[in-house]
Amino acid sequence: MTTSFEIEENVKLAPLTTLGVGGTARRFANVTSEEELAAALRAAGENSLSVFILGGGSNIVVADAGFDGLVIKVSICGIHEAGSDGSRIVLSVGAGEEWDGFVAYAVERGLAGVECLSGIPGLVGGTPVQNVGAYGQEVSETIVSVSCLDRTSGAMVELSNEECGFGYRKSIFNSDERDRYVVTRVNFRLTVNGDPKLAYRELIEIFSGRTPSIVEVREAVLSIRRSKSMVIDPDDPNSRSAGSFFKNPLVTAEKFGELEAAFGEIPKYPAANGWVKVPAAWLIENAGFSKGFAMNRVGISTKHSLAIINKGGAGSADIVELKDLIRSAVNSKFGIQLEPEPIFVGF
Ligand code: EPU
Repeated sequence: MTTSFEIEENVKLAPLTTLGVGGTARRFANVTSEEELAAALRAAGENSLSVFILGGGSNIVVADAGFDGLVIKVSICGIHEAGSDGSRIVLSVGAGEEWDGFVAYAVERGLAGVECLSGIPGLVGGTPVQNVGAYGQEVSETIVSVSCLDRTSGAMVELSNEECGFGYRKSIFNSDERDRYVVTRVNFRLTVNGDPKLAYRELIEIFSGRTPSIVEVREAVLSIRRSKSMVIDPDDPNSRSAGSFFKNPLVTAEKFGELEAAFGEIPKYPAANGWVKVPAAWLIENAGFSKGFAMNRVGISTKHSLAIINKGGAGSADIVELKDLIRSAVNSKFGIQLEPEPIFVGF
């Protein structure tokens, strides 16, 4: 196995992100194997550089000042079978594989379990970190285990689904053990010739009662996402975003009752343990930020009020200014603190 990666200097990060803002990385390494990853981490340690692990750049906001450390892009690739019991198959997928390429691979082979997650930008390694979810499915439903390099011990470890501590847009990788593990491969258990998951209202309505194939579900999800500019397309300025900029907040049933008493009927998602999940998009729109809102070089997508977009030439400061404005408007109108969904790098 070679460890012949280069460490580059002053690499522009904006082009490596979907939002397209931010400065340079002081050092940058693209690694294609576990050995190269370990060597890059050692180099960072020897030079006292902090480390940021870059995936597809679809869920990050990079500071205009850049990142004063080593950015490591994990390009470990390959999809291989890691077990099968006839009706289910485990695929081990490299962290550097394009997420949607893997979904297409699974769907083409009749493997069910990730079809509703079609069209999501980014790389496989990022998906367990925030437990990517959409249209009624989350990666935690099919992840059996995640292979990682443990930066504390320097050893490779395999964390089971339970050990990952998955919740809504949450795992140990973005909470309790932030920065400890670098994901190298993700193992998914998929169902051979399985039925698609039909749980999201919009999807159920499209197929009005019949059970579609997973190919049809993939196509339907792609078309819904395109209609909301949630598929990255260089010709669609609405897609120059980091996807949903805020998480959907959970409120108590009591708080939700107060909100409906004050503002009338509010859309909601079912949530566990008596909590109510409220669409942040609705709160944002009803706090005065309509689709298409523009402020200097940033704005809100004309297709979806949860996406903050770079209208061209924006800096991270513009993004942060709009984020803060939205948060304070939602807080003063509804008494809810929206939490950003993307990771802020170099702030
Ligand atoms: N809504 C508005 N205005 C809008 C869009 C939506 O008021 O411009 C309201 C509507 O009431 C709508 C509700 O918000 O019914 C929900 O909208 P949508 O179905 O588009 O979903 P979302 O809650 O805004 C979440 C995820 C998305 C995921 C979709 C589909 C979060 C933070 N976002 O969005 O994930 O694709 O559901 O499952 O949970 C992402 O994380 O980056 C992302 C795009």
